[in-house]
Amino acid sequence: MMTVGFIGWRGMVGSVLMERMRAENDFEHINPVFFTTSQAGQAAPNVGKGESVLLDAFNVDELSRMDAIVTCQGGDYTTEVHGKLRDSGWNGYWIDAASTLRMAEQAVIVLDPVNSPVIEKALADGKKDFIGGNCTVSLMLMAIGGLFKAGLVEWVSSMTYQAASGAGAQNMRELLCQMGSLNGCVANELATPSSAILEIDRKVTAQFSAEDFPTERFGAPLAGSLIPWIDKAVDDGQTKEEWKGCVETNKILKNDPAVPIDGICVRIGAMRSHSQALTIKLTKDVAVEEIMDILRNDNEWVDVVDNNKEDSLARLTPAAISGTLTVPVGRIRKMKMGPEYLSAFTVGDQLLWGAAEPLRRMLRILQG
Ligand code: HSE
Repeated sequence: MMTVGFIGWRGMVGSVLMERMRAENDFEHINPVFFTTSQAGQAAPNVGKGESVLLDAFNVDELSRMDAIVTCQGGDYTTEVHGKLRDSGWNGYWIDAASTLRMAEQAVIVLDPVNSPVIEKALADGKKDFIGGNCTVSLMLMAIGGLFKAGLVEWVSSMTYQAASGAGAQNMRELLCQMGSLNGCVANELATPSSAILEIDRKVTAQFSAEDFPTERFGAPLAGSLIPWIDKAVDDGQTKEEWKGCVETNKILKNDPAVPIDGICVRIGAMRSHSQALTIKLTKDVAVEEIMDILRNDNEWVDVVDNNKEDSLARLTPAAISGTLTVPVGRIRKMKMGPEYLSAFTVGDQLLWGAAEPLRRMLRILQG
């Protein structure tokens, strides 16, 4: 039985990972050891394997006793510890949610429903670093991986609608506080049906710049607005989130030559599910029905939604799928630019397939 160390299991992604591992009885198959960056010696969570204490997550000797390490602690921890641990001669498996190592030569980005041949080959080649992908990338590939596998994608433009959770737990709280603040500033008017809507709107707009309107985390109003910028600037006017869309997709699929992927990443006021509007240039004209079949048959989590209002409202929204592993893809149609131009819209829980799920599945793969 593998001894597996967990770091960052208490944070948002880590908590979702623990929940999923409990639900799938993953702890039955491993000997779990819990680490902490601040509370060594305190009681570790009991996951049905008896009482234990938390170990120091910076102690290389303790860490090097693990067969595998799963970390959701974040990029700074990876930067500080991974190199030291490898330099000490540790040759275990490092499974990580952070982006730090993703593009490193020796690292594999894991999303097994999409790239299990790449993972199997990496294991056979003795690779040891397995990293979860960026959430928008993983969610896009869970939705349209079938088209890539069929060689049907010439390029993709992905316009994203990303939830607050992608920015962190505190940002989710700030979004809700912003919503409350906007609602509160017009509570009297809302209670009076005859109130003039333009007066309500004027007050809401003024509230965006009120001194007590909370924007510490996002740096701008998100509730009642949106933020067309995620992460820092890189080259050519792209943000890092937009850059990841191309480089990570091509690394996950080992595409050669690379398929161009670009778009604008936008933060919106959803809680934990990211959406993406996709324009796909196909390599050839393929009927919509055939495309829907390819998508439907790609993996068991994709839900191909018919292009009508009723199904789109019922199945193709963050509210419909948050907290589930279902990845709906709909609004599928040929665009007016020509028969090779396909539109699609997809939604996925960014804490599940976008973060925790590929990690727990990688751990299962290691157990054979
Ligand atoms: N970078 C993503 C976001 C989340 O800001 O929504 C993590 O992949």
